[in-house]
Amino acid sequence: TLNNLVIGVVGGLGHIGLIQSACLASLGYKTIAYDIDKEKIAGVLNGKIPFEEVGLQELVRETVNDGTLTITAQIGDLEEAEIVFVCVGTPSLSNGEADLSQVYQAVEQLAKSRSRHCLAVIKSTVPVGTCAELTAILKELNLSEKVTIVSNPEFLREGSGVEDFWNPARIVVGSEIKEAGDKVAGLYAPDGVPVIITNWESSELIKLASNAFLSTKISFINEISILCEQVGADIRTISEGIGLDPRINPHFLAAGVGFSGPCLEKDLQSLINQFKKTNRKARILESVLEVNETQRHSVVEKLLAELGTLKDKNIAVLGMAFKEETDDVRQSHSLPIVKSLLLHGAMVTVTDPWVKSPEQAGLSEDVLPGVTWVDSPYDAAKDKDAILILTAWQEYRDLDLARIKQLMANPLIVDGRNLFNKEDLKAQKIKYLGVGI
Ligand code: UGA
Repeated sequence: TLNNLVIGVVGGLGHIGLIQSACLASLGYKTIAYDIDKEKIAGVLNGKIPFEEVGLQELVRETVNDGTLTITAQIGDLEEAEIVFVCVGTPSLSNGEADLSQVYQAVEQLAKSRSRHCLAVIKSTVPVGTCAELTAILKELNLSEKVTIVSNPEFLREGSGVEDFWNPARIVVGSEIKEAGDKVAGLYAPDGVPVIITNWESSELIKLASNAFLSTKISFINEISILCEQVGADIRTISEGIGLDPRINPHFLAAGVGFSGPCLEKDLQSLINQFKKTNRKARILESVLEVNETQRHSVVEKLLAELGTLKDKNIAVLGMAFKEETDDVRQSHSLPIVKSLLLHGAMVTVTDPWVKSPEQAGLSEDVLPGVTWVDSPYDAAKDKDAILILTAWQEYRDLDLARIKQLMANPLIVDGRNLFNKEDLKAQKIKYLGVGI
């Protein structure tokens, strides 16, 4: 029953791992989060979580304080756990393939550490076939008795991960053994939420196909936005107009600077790669990626068209995080865009409400050489030839445009997130270029 069950989480202080750990603990399960990063552990035990995630800090504090959540750097401490979630990273290799070394290592290390059986539940996003492969490896190592592999992909959005944990659209479980699948499915599915229990391969593919579909919606609307600019239509009205059809729905139809971040692009590349491995071509998905690349650079093209050249121009970039309400800069579109501005010879000043320095963003000095980081959008706007908006922060929507106009050397805003009404900018005599408007 609920309170006797002990749950382990490997990669327990990562983005997914910590949400999983704290939420399971707050459901009343004794939860043990294992992580190799001792510095992070010390931080969390002192009440400071390693990244911004709405509501997580409080939840971690509460569950650590009441003893339901414990944190350890010893894998052996997971011994009591009957169910162990694997939440380690699966970054992209340079060929687009997912790097599974952390997953393999975690499962092998876990199996070797145990004297009794557990379920290893793969939360990490993995290529189709990984659960079968892990099972084969365990067999080869004579460790099958110790660990049974179950797939249980996550669908949490960064920034609203805790909310998504409590209100999932569905729970997906892949298992070869019915009881194992049922056990995982019964752990945290709220009443009334659809549960799909299937085989490993389908479960793994539901995750990748979901993210690929979301990417497809974004590239689709971005493609239509290009035509809008040519024919005088407004993409925001198009999104509204098509989104009201319940077969389409209004979500993920915001045109902009393209999708980025640590998940969508990586998972799309991984899926394309899996088509290649089976000698098939992912025609739609390859186009989705290509449209996203073009979209990303279209804001730089707009600046070039307006200013003639970017050489020695002073550009302010508003927004470094890959989306609002997160401090995550990993694989953010802002990085290649700022790099491109630098390559064109521009002088770049950047700002972000939650990311204040390259160190905080986890960027080494040489990633964006010569870039100036400032605190506020007003500091950034000072004496600039143009402002480029890359993240849809509320703070930017609320900008005092008259003040911005006064600060700038040349009143030009290229908005990659469509935060403003054209008319408001016109009234301020600021030249404004959005996406598809
Ligand atoms: C995504 C999925 O939405 C989650 O369901 C999934 O669990 C997660 O990846 C994952 O695989 O872990 P996330 O990357 O946190 O979540 O962020 P999204 O909200 O999906 O946004 C991704 C990118 O698309 C951002 O750059 C965002 O600005 C952009 N976007 C989103 C648009 O350009 N237009 C939209 O209409 C929506």
